[in-house]
Amino acid sequence: TLDIRSLYKDFDCFTYDPGFTATASCKSNITFIDGDAGILLYRGYPIEQLAEHCDFMEVAFLLMYGELPTKQELETFCDEINRRSILDESLRSFFEGFHYDAHPMAMLVGVVGSLSAFYHSELNMKDPEHRRICATRMIGKMPTIAAATYRHSVGKPFVYPLVDLSYCENFLNMMFSRSSPNYIDPNHYIDPCAVKALNLLFILHADHEQNASTSTVRLAASTGANPYACIAAGIAALWGPAHGGANEAVLSMLTEIGTVDKIPEYIAKAKDKNDPFRLMGFGHRVYKNFDPRATIIRKTCYQVLEGCNKNDPLFELALALEEYALKDDYFIEKKLYPNVDFYSGIIYKALNIPVDMFTVMFAIARTAGWVSHWLEMMADPSTPIGRPRQLYQGPGQRNFVPIESR
Ligand code: ACO
Repeated sequence: TLDIRSLYKDFDCFTYDPGFTATASCKSNITFIDGDAGILLYRGYPIEQLAEHCDFMEVAFLLMYGELPTKQELETFCDEINRRSILDESLRSFFEGFHYDAHPMAMLVGVVGSLSAFYHSELNMKDPEHRRICATRMIGKMPTIAAATYRHSVGKPFVYPLVDLSYCENFLNMMFSRSSPNYIDPNHYIDPCAVKALNLLFILHADHEQNASTSTVRLAASTGANPYACIAAGIAALWGPAHGGANEAVLSMLTEIGTVDKIPEYIAKAKDKNDPFRLMGFGHRVYKNFDPRATIIRKTCYQVLEGCNKNDPLFELALALEEYALKDDYFIEKKLYPNVDFYSGIIYKALNIPVDMFTVMFAIARTAGWVSHWLEMMADPSTPIGRPRQLYQGPGQRNFVPIESR
């Protein structure tokens, strides 16, 4: 038999880091996180300041190009994004292929991946302008595709994007307008409170350095794959409940807990190592003190529920759950705090976004981050193919045994 360690003899140092807890996979100038201090910066700007002062399009521009836009630059950028928001008519047939009860994330993965079949002939990935067009096209089309997944699931006709609406207004209009493709209703009321809330959530979710979905986009792109297929790979990674799927899982969990008196029972389940249950929306790989995005979202929940004139008992329950967990030794010792997704679902629910669309909402926002990382990576021709090694644990070399002798 072969000494397995001899397989790795060529390496002076061989790191085994499952989950990449202490391994940087790339250099990046986009986002900085200090997990102990609860600091998140996009291109150097604190998330709190961007959340308070910016439009999501300004933040998307900042992530992509590295600087906040001037008024003129922002106008041009918004025009371009808007122009690219329309879908090729033949994409409709892709939606028709999905059963009405398909999860919207399943449709999103499929339809975004299919863009690679529509945009390939002009693709010259060596040309920075072509790459920039890909990125803005992806940001522009994502809300249109996202809204179409919802309209398909409820059997309603798709609504076209309108050029005179902002990014968030357009999404809400495409989701909820009673108009059909043949009848655009420009007077459809879009609640400014909902637009403001959506804008904020999109900013908070726009980027988060090398999270699982962004790393997936980078890994796929390192092979030179079609960029739309790379974004579809990122969407697939986002879907899981340990990542972007947590916002949907939090709402399901709160609904299951139901009342404040049941909280101790669920906290006990979360602490029980024989029970797979985890407190969804709690814990983070990097934040070990607090998630600054959760702090902003909790505050916004009060404003949104008041602004939309809604009293959601699940918000009261979430607050009580947080208070209870943060006094518990298990959560204190393991440094488990509410993350960005603990409260985001409460806001989406107040905006009448269906629960199974929550992760799709996350994907719309994160597209700005994904394409920015893709652009950054593609601009550096020295980027190698992403190809981790493994620690082989199987049998050593052995001889083939004919089937009759096995
Ligand atoms: N509930 C109960 N226990 C938890 C939780 C939780 N939510 N999160 C972590 N723990 C425990 C683990 O069981 C582990 O215990 P151990 O030391 O006794 O083995 C310890 O805390 C460390 O947890 P890990 O899973 O090793 O931490 P990791 O950094 O790998 O995972 C993650 C982070 C995936 C976010 C985890 O905290 C989790 O599953 N949270 C719930 C899902 C969630 O909210 N995900 C969204 C994250 S934010 C985002 O992606 C947008």
